[in-house]
Amino acid sequence: MDATPVWLMRQAGRYLPEYRKLREEAGSFLDLCQNPELACEVTLQPLRRFDLDAAILFSDILTVPEAMGLGLHFVAGEGPHFAHPVRTPGAIDRLVMPDIEEELGYVPAAVRLIRRELDGKTPLIGFAGSPWTLATYMVEGGPSKNYQHIKALMFNAPDALHRLLDLLARATAAYLNAQIAAGAQAVQIFDTWGGVLSPANYRAFSLAYMEKIVAQLEPGPDGAVPTILFTKGGGPWLEDIAATGTSAIGLDWTIDIDDAAARVGDRVALQGNADPAILFARPERIRAEVRDILDRFGDRPGHVFNLGHGVTPQVEPDHVAALVDAVHEFSAR
Ligand code: CP3
Repeated sequence: MDATPVWLMRQAGRYLPEYRKLREEAGSFLDLCQNPELACEVTLQPLRRFDLDAAILFSDILTVPEAMGLGLHFVAGEGPHFAHPVRTPGAIDRLVMPDIEEELGYVPAAVRLIRRELDGKTPLIGFAGSPWTLATYMVEGGPSKNYQHIKALMFNAPDALHRLLDLLARATAAYLNAQIAAGAQAVQIFDTWGGVLSPANYRAFSLAYMEKIVAQLEPGPDGAVPTILFTKGGGPWLEDIAATGTSAIGLDWTIDIDDAAARVGDRVALQGNADPAILFARPERIRAEVRDILDRFGDRPGHVFNLGHGVTPQVEPDHVAALVDAVHEFSAR
């Protein structure tokens, strides 16, 4: 069928009972991520339920700082925490580039397994966090309300923060290249916290490092691999994001997709951009929202339907099915 393709950020995870069951048996979330067989199983779970057009590797963006020795753990109801946050220029200069094969080999191993299981039927997306987003967790030590520590570092010791971001960009490029070599067919960079910066600081401390990563990516076994840059809150800067050379931009829901397309449409593909909260609405209302986004995008080429951020754990799986099916139904050509 020729229709708009759809996948969802966080399409695997806690809203699925089969995920919660496996997670209970496996122990911790990190145990799931670090076991290629289990990571493969969780990646495939949403594809068994829904008519999705892509799989996304089940992992986390914080595997990279974990591999750099920061001591990652998850506190129930609070999110990720690092035992050893990196708060000072001295601590930054003691960090070393992780050995991808040695410390993170479980990720390309999962990619190889998933590709074998998918058997060419559905493409697999790999991912990583943006250097700025990883640095916010590494400096704050966990989730943050006002980004006090990283922003103090940015204003008081910008050279030290640039050294951290440069190290993270090199580590992330190597990490994504390992996923690509293992068979990832597209890669998305999650810049969850780029939107908390001023325009000038976004360009200097977030976008510049995503641009470096895009430039360092190598072709995979089947040729060049498309890239998706997703900055939550990045609507004001779409022209700058398009100018990095990325193949696609992920949009959150605070911008109308027709406005975004008018600004950058023929330079990059657009991914998005339903409000994730639409999944709390009744199926008929979900269908209307899907139709509105498809109508706005119109007949232009290059739309991948998605939410503007991840599926939340409280969502009813049937509502996800309603959204996915509506995308195919209303965009069928
Ligand atoms: O999209 C997918 O299906 C792939 C899986 C995926 C996860 N994390 C699984 C996960 C992806 C792409 C991520 C990326 C990620 N991780 C981001 C960027 C995207 C975003 O949501 O903004 C960020 C900021 C993280 C860091 C992180 N990891 C957070 C904030 C949390 C939530 C903590 C909580 O308890 O709510 C995690 C844990 C996490 N990552 C879970 C899953 C399924 C939940 C773990 C569990 O308890 O089972």
